[in-house]
Amino acid sequence: MLEARGIETSYGSTQVLFGVNLAAEENKVTCVIGPNGAGKTTLLLTLAGILQAKRGDILFDGERLNDLPAWERVKKGVVLCPERRRLFPSLSVLENLTQGAYTRNDTQDVRDTLEEVFTLFPILKERRSQLAGTLSGGEQQMVAIGRSLMSHPKLLMLDEPSVGLSPLMRSKIFEQILRIRDMGSIAIVLVEQDAADALEISDYAYVLEDGKITIHGAAVDVAANPEVRAAYLGL
Ligand SMILES: Nc1ncnc2c1ncn2[C@@H]1O[C@H](COP(=O)(O)OP(=O)(O)OP(=O)(O)O)[C@@H](O)[C@H]1O
Ligand SMILES: [Mg+2]
Repeated sequence: MLEARGIETSYGSTQVLFGVNLAAEENKVTCVIGPNGAGKTTLLLTLAGILQAKRGDILFDGERLNDLPAWERVKKGVVLCPERRRLFPSLSVLENLTQGAYTRNDTQDVRDTLEEVFTLFPILKERRSQLAGTLSGGEQQMVAIGRSLMSHPKLLMLDEPSVGLSPLMRSKIFEQILRIRDMGSIAIVLVEQDAADALEISDYAYVLEDGKITIHGAAVDVAANPEVRAAYLGL
């Protein structure tokens, strides 16, 4: 599904990613863990086309995406749910959700997806007329994920979906991520600060440090890696 090879990304003259390789497969959660400032968000922004890779290839279903602008990648199903949610606070839940469907023109299909989102997050149906800015943090995160689903992703990238949420709300969000994985035909790339939770729900894992992938493998193996246990799991 997704294969990124040798990705290098810079902000001006400051290089942040140094030859990152990453793959993600359908019906699997692939996580990227690593310390603050490692380049996790930069990697997702590069895959989404918001930042341009200076070098490397981004292949999606075999097609090279590097030269496509972000909105064309969204049309192909490459969708980023960004850090800190980025909702429109003075628009309703429903209006925020439908923003996610801006590249789609089959209205019946969009309505079906909206029903799927409401099945996944029933609270959003109840609160569909409420202004997004007045929702709790967890509800706002649900809107952000729901809005991404409205774009009909084949590759859904989630940047720290659980940040700032209570333990209960975090486990709810992780549960929903697994349900999205099992909806079929969707690859999930999850960036998380909390390595323990991320590794627990992931199939495959990458550790990104100083812009380089230092460890990768099946999530259970990465979780058992002594360096990962010491540096990220506090064990
Ligand atoms: N717009 C920008 N201009 C210049 N440097 C930036 C910019 N955005 C990020 N950086 C730098 O790039 C590096 C990687 O940042 P990035 O946000 O990708 O890290 P991260 O792994 O997502 O961190 P966190 O876990 O804190 O979200 C950091 O050193 C950061 O200061
Ligand atoms: Mg980040």
